[in-house]
Amino acid sequence: MVITIDGPAGAGKSSVARGLAKRLGFRFLDTGAMYRTVAYAAMKRGIRWDDDAALAELARSIDIDVSEEQVLMDGEDVSSAIRTMEVTSVIHYVADHPGIRELLVELQRRCASGGDFVTEGRDQGTVAFPDAACKIFLTASPAERARRRQKDLEARGEEMAFEEVLKRQEERDERDRNRPVGSLVAAKDASLVSTDHHSMEQVIDELESLVKKQLASKS
Ligand code: C5P
Repeated sequence: MVITIDGPAGAGKSSVARGLAKRLGFRFLDTGAMYRTVAYAAMKRGIRWDDDAALAELARSIDIDVSEEQVLMDGEDVSSAIRTMEVTSVIHYVADHPGIRELLVELQRRCASGGDFVTEGRDQGTVAFPDAACKIFLTASPAERARRRQKDLEARGEEMAFEEVLKRQEERDERDRNRPVGSLVAAKDASLVSTDHHSMEQVIDELESLVKKQLASKS
């Protein structure tokens, strides 16, 4: 069974999806890590961002293994390397590429097939798992999301002024919403949940009861 959590950057998806998976005894799949790994590989190999064919070839040729503990690229642990600002600033070249999206959606379906998963991303309920048992769209106000993002960066030793975090977040949201394939949009049958003024534990509590209620009504 698959439960999807989509939403913009900084809405708290990762922590919430991880926590919800733990409560339900499900596994957790971070699909953003897949896009990050391809962007990181392209950066490392010096592939030009306007070379669509080379980017697609690269995505096909590398082995991406996303587990709850770590992210492996051809066996190398890239868990931290893929989360730098540098990778985040070029990720749209990969996320906007329809061929790469198709490939990664296929990988996501393979990863989740036959298991119980909470998957997290932008297009999980709309494109990757349109028949998911339960769909959640997580939101939060831009200022709250930027504050969280700034804290995350700080924890990793990367300093950035709040205004700059907010500006970059707006740019990323705009791109995520407007890409022709796999854009950031709530599925029609998704439950919208705001994380503003709530602790992660409170949001996980809310989602756990929401999911249990929805699953009970379907059985
Ligand atoms: O969730 P995270 O911030 O790690 O995702 C990085 C980027 O990957 C997002 O900004 C988005 O552009 C892209 N992404 C996507 N589809 C997904 C997951 C992430 O386009 N399912």
